[in-house]
Amino acid sequence: MISTQRPLNIVLLGPPGAGKSTIAEELVVHYHMVAISTGQLLRSEIKARTALGRTVSGIIDKGNLAPDSVMDRVLRASLETLNDDEGILLDGYPRTMHQALGLSLTLADYGRTLDAVVALEIDDTEVVRRLSGRRICESAGEPFPVHIDDLASMMRCRERGGQAIQREDDKPEVVQQRLMIYHEQTRPLLEFYEREHVLHRVPASNTPAAVARLALAQLAELVN
Ligand code: AP5
Ligand code: MG
Repeated sequence: MISTQRPLNIVLLGPPGAGKSTIAEELVVHYHMVAISTGQLLRSEIKARTALGRTVSGIIDKGNLAPDSVMDRVLRASLETLNDDEGILLDGYPRTMHQALGLSLTLADYGRTLDAVVALEIDDTEVVRRLSGRRICESAGEPFPVHIDDLASMMRCRERGGQAIQREDDKPEVVQQRLMIYHEQTRPLLEFYEREHVLHRVPASNTPAAVARLALAQLAELVN
């Protein structure tokens, strides 16, 4: 574990399928940070059939964004659970300019500041390839992603007695909608964070290990 003088507060930005959650898993091995995936939090609410889950279920399935007001509450609720010495790795938040502007204020309420935004960059064709073939292996312990072109991963799922299920929002027309929303609402945040001098761009079409290495190198510069 790499030690830092104070806990880091990092945003992972990128289109759907860029590898945010994959890289987050790698980064938290090296830094004392808690990964917060707002998409995962919403899916848990849907699974638990809470009022919040019922509100966002149809929105997610269509590839649209949950309302900013809802997301602000979701973010604050998860920050409440953290200890002061734990860093934050935000996966999938912010996605709109409203959320980006609100984030600094929310962090300030918890005595934190944003240290860096790591932007994973891949093109739309690769997004479609990754997401259209992705399945989630369910009922075999902790769910994990597999890909229909990666037979070894499909076998791993089957051997563990799991079932490879397609996320509703990985259906082709929904992936197109998620991409459109990304370009319209989230991509402008790159320029915003560039102006704030916190943006670190990481090419993300290489293997997960190579992408993680590049992201770790960016963070290493930050703490040195
Ligand atoms: P969320 O769950 O965050 O979905 P997303 O960001 O659209 O897309 P993914 O999570 O699928 O992509 P990822 O970048 O994490 O990539 P991953 O590592 O999984 O959000 C879902 C929905 O919730 C949103 O559409 C919205 O409706 C709502 N929502 C969430 N946050 C919100 C917010 N702040 N405001 C409003 N609404 C919000 O990788 C993808 C696949 O590629 C996997 O199969 C993986 O194994 C594979 N892979 C990863 N890296 C590589 C690599 N380097 N090479 C090859 N394959 C790779
Ligand atoms: Mg994700």
